[in-house]
Amino acid sequence: MIKPHGSDKLNPLYVMDAAKRAQLIKEAASLPSVVVSSAAAANAVMLGSGYFNPLTGYMNLADSLSVAEKMQTKEGLFWPVPVVNVLKDASSIKVGQKIALLDPNMPGNPVVATQEVTGIDEATDDQMKMMTDKIFRTQDPAHPGVAAFNSVGKFFVSGPITVLSYSYFEKDFPETFRTAYQIREEMSKLGWNKVVAFQTRNPMHRAHEELCRMAYNDLKADGILIHMLLGTLKKGDIPADVRDDCIRKMVELYFPANTVLVTGYGFDMLYAGPREAVLHAVFRQNTGCTHLIVGRDHAGVGDYYGGFDAQTIFHDEVPKGALDIEIYEADHTAWSKKLNKVVMMRDVPDHTKDDFVLLSGTKVRAMLAEGIAPPAEFSRPEVAKILMNYYQSEEGKNS
Ligand code: ADX
Repeated sequence: MIKPHGSDKLNPLYVMDAAKRAQLIKEAASLPSVVVSSAAAANAVMLGSGYFNPLTGYMNLADSLSVAEKMQTKEGLFWPVPVVNVLKDASSIKVGQKIALLDPNMPGNPVVATQEVTGIDEATDDQMKMMTDKIFRTQDPAHPGVAAFNSVGKFFVSGPITVLSYSYFEKDFPETFRTAYQIREEMSKLGWNKVVAFQTRNPMHRAHEELCRMAYNDLKADGILIHMLLGTLKKGDIPADVRDDCIRKMVELYFPANTVLVTGYGFDMLYAGPREAVLHAVFRQNTGCTHLIVGRDHAGVGDYYGGFDAQTIFHDEVPKGALDIEIYEADHTAWSKKLNKVVMMRDVPDHTKDDFVLLSGTKVRAMLAEGIAPPAEFSRPEVAKILMNYYQSEEGKNS
């Protein structure tokens, strides 16, 4: 299995020993505390899970600026997106203190981690703008990731952390939430060496399914890791439990047993397109995967990124040797009416647009809400049924 990013062994920051963890949670009750942002809590979960190996905590402002600017910490570690705990008001805490970080996403705000505060730096407006621009390639406040990044404050509270909880992810998704070290253990039990990871924040339609199959076959891989985002999404995106049901049904019916692991990770979507794709590669390397599928508009939103910007960044901006994981680059994939199967457009140069079954997300959603299943060329009927039930429920109607 390939090595984690930046170290020989994975160093997850979660306290595994239950008795020790309980003791630390008890002690945390008497520490100065702050309720952190959802993004900071998700960062703690990722650090706890080993996904953000080899980081030991939250970056300071200097590292955040350096990472935003050139994808490198001051010490030279390759890293694509700042991992930070940013507050609107840090007046209640001091450098040198140990503090409890309280979880904004759980009732009663229990502790998610403790932090040794080694620095508190206030970013200037220009620094916030520079970071926003570099990470998201836009400063448009209508971009959901830009809005989230600029809404949490400007005080960068840095320092190492000890993670005491996986927030709501472990309880809400017991079958699906997995840490990087659990995935490594599972893949090693299965004897998988060459493994292709599939990032997703959607239910899987035929194009997604075939992309996984094509990558698996082309690479002659031992297995596929479907790795779905379980954290916060923008309004209109489909909730994780519904996506999870769709994906499990699709895998159960259409993939041979023991070729796919269905898993998820606890992180909020950034919608940062190319930069997020690089982050995705880093944390799939930490799970031991050898390849990551990057297709069309990976981690994108609206029209902010070119369809394949998330692939070109690996050629143009990621230094050679910075990562061991390799990218499986996929072209736009869709059902060919001529060939009666899903194809990559680059493989069928004789086709015109009309030769493909192409449906917009908006159109599919409208159909599902009316109880009309999209064509089987687009969506497996069993998956469409789960989605129709969702869109016709109260939650779906209000989404
Ligand atoms: S993402 O935000 O997690 O990237 P999504 O779940 O839709 O969104 O996509 C998962 C992966 O499948 C990404 O690598 C994306 O580029 C790829 N993908 C989705 N649909 C297509 C398609 N029709 N053609 C090619 N790649 C696709």
